[in-house]
Amino acid sequence: MYQPYILKYDYNDLEPHISKKTMEIHYNNHYLKYLKNLNDALIKNKFNFQYPKEDLFDNIDIFPIQDRDTILYNAGGVINHELYFSSIKKQENNVSIPEPLQSALVKKFGNIENFMNQLIELASFLPGSGYTFLAVKPNQDLYLLNLPNQDSPFSYDMVPILAIDVWEHAYYLDYYNNRKKYIEELMKIIDFTEVNKKYQEILNKN
Ligand SMILES: [Fe+2]
Repeated sequence: MYQPYILKYDYNDLEPHISKKTMEIHYNNHYLKYLKNLNDALIKNKFNFQYPKEDLFDNIDIFPIQDRDTILYNAGGVINHELYFSSIKKQENNVSIPEPLQSALVKKFGNIENFMNQLIELASFLPGSGYTFLAVKPNQDLYLLNLPNQDSPFSYDMVPILAIDVWEHAYYLDYYNNRKKYIEELMKIIDFTEVNKKYQEILNKN
């Protein structure tokens, strides 16, 4: 079975940006439910967990057609949440974004402020529920995109390195319908060291 991602902070560590209650519910009631549903669907299909769950997207055709939507939806729910939880940290940002991510972002977006503003605008206007991702294309280009529900950039041949969960359960208790305020607050605690690590791993693979 796929094992749960362990948070690198306590539920109350992200306050005042995200409340203890929101984090508790988000992790236990939402994330762990996706993980259980994914494991259940795979066990039902006698899957032997031979590869990382990110590879399920490229191998989805080994499963019967009637189970593919369930597997993709819950695999997305697991992977997207794990990336979201690992994209944030307890301390507010006070240093510049590490290299090589900093230079890549400046090359793509002109400067870091533009990147931040584009990300905030994109996430603010995502219709319904979904995620805003910073992802890496096969040609190593950085790309900002919105995807609905639990869709994953892996389904579009991209590797996500930063995820912003904009489902209402991520912010409603703390910010009600003010999604933009939630995203602005979240940007203060993005773990760019972690995002950079993921970016570097992709560069090293190619
Ligand atoms: Fe969520």
